[in-house]
Amino acid sequence: MNIAQVDYDGLIPNNVALGQDERVKRALEKWHPGYINWWNDMGPEGFQESLVYLRTAVSVDPKGWAKFDYVRMPDYRWGVLLAPALEGREIPFGRHKGEDAWQEVPGEYRAMLRRLIVIQGDTEPASVEQQRYLGKTAPSLYDMRNLFQVNVEEGRHLWAMVYLLQKYFGTDGREEAEALLQRRSGDADTPRMLGAFNEQTPDWLSFFMFTFFTDRDGKMQLEALAQSGFDPLSRTCRFMLTEEAHHMFVGETGVTRIIQRTCEAMKDAGINDPNEIEKVRKLGVIDLSTIQKKANLHFSLTLDLFGNEISTNAANAFHAGIKGRYREDRLKDDHQLEGGTYPVLRLIDGKIQHEDSPALSALNMRLRDDYVGDCNNGVGRWNKVIADLGIPFEMKLPHVAFHRHIGEFSKIRADVTGNRLSDADWAGRRDEFLPFDEDRDFIESLMQPQLEPGKFAGWIAPPKVGIDNKPGEFEYVKIA
Ligand SMILES: [Fe+2]
Ligand SMILES: [Fe+2]
Repeated sequence: MNIAQVDYDGLIPNNVALGQDERVKRALEKWHPGYINWWNDMGPEGFQESLVYLRTAVSVDPKGWAKFDYVRMPDYRWGVLLAPALEGREIPFGRHKGEDAWQEVPGEYRAMLRRLIVIQGDTEPASVEQQRYLGKTAPSLYDMRNLFQVNVEEGRHLWAMVYLLQKYFGTDGREEAEALLQRRSGDADTPRMLGAFNEQTPDWLSFFMFTFFTDRDGKMQLEALAQSGFDPLSRTCRFMLTEEAHHMFVGETGVTRIIQRTCEAMKDAGINDPNEIEKVRKLGVIDLSTIQKKANLHFSLTLDLFGNEISTNAANAFHAGIKGRYREDRLKDDHQLEGGTYPVLRLIDGKIQHEDSPALSALNMRLRDDYVGDCNNGVGRWNKVIADLGIPFEMKLPHVAFHRHIGEFSKIRADVTGNRLSDADWAGRRDEFLPFDEDRDFIESLMQPQLEPGKFAGWIAPPKVGIDNKPGEFEYVKIA
């Protein structure tokens, strides 16, 4: 069988020869109805019967892996797709560096691997749950379609992790696969595992910020897991990253289009001062300072996903060859890090300052630094749009000590530039930094659906090009 081609004959599309793996095939077929129930209960509300112009993976060849067609979401072909094996692949880092990559789970690392796969898996359905009501307020059919595309692919990412659990982790894996369908984002009794995945995504600005910031954390984690010495995990994550690129695109262009529309409306109305918030809001667009506050919120919540700056779990996973650094294969060092150090931003004697720490313990910090760099590139592109339209305003990422709940800075209050604040000062100034009721009410007032093909809500600019090169008036969702 050609690994690039996907077998669509059975219930579960795959390129892992499921047809010859009766045990796993049966386990997945047994899990399937529960998944569909979960999708029907927790997936996009109100649009399960609509025909959506979706892409489906039909191959894992990077040059042409997707086909586009109208699909009812519950009929989407969620499958198990792994990137092609690289011949002679070796474990690229850690104490086993240079040994043959593992095709089976190494017994000593079983618990660690299972935990990483479950945590990754848990985020995938969580974001679908968080976004389930957004279809009702879509600013266009184009955006609605992009939301649903992201949703079905997050569903597929759950399949990707569940395949690994079912194939390689026996009874434990089966139980974990079940539990992934039981937890619910934001539920008081059975919440999802990570904080940011229990927050609400109540409006489209939140959705675009979430895909920009939180899906980007997903990208970083997948890049680190794609380096894994456990080859099936590496191959799974490599293919997920091709899909994830679209999620990055949705977030970045979504925020860009909102910023663009705001700046255009300000220019047309002769408003040059971004602090004229009331005047700008009267134009029916979102003022730049509110967009900045939303960015502050989503950035800070997402930073918590990187965990503690100093982490023995992260050190152990690297040392074991299970989870690498961001694009480990492009880094030039010994890939073992037993001697090196890394500067970690810490709270020392009450001051925020760098301290050299053993490189192995500092891997969360390092991944977070890479993440912040990646975010900054995107923010730079937003700023170019603002500058080109001549508005004197610059979007900025807040300081990493701002509004944190995990790690070094969870014990302190800081403003967006990293100055420490007393609890009283924080309480007095919080609304300068983060969205508050009035901001949320205003955004909510704009969330009126625009469902006419080719039309867009007044607070967001149309995209430069259509999906799959479709013309502007293309009906991306046929609402039923
Ligand atoms: Fe995902
Ligand atoms: Fe994603």
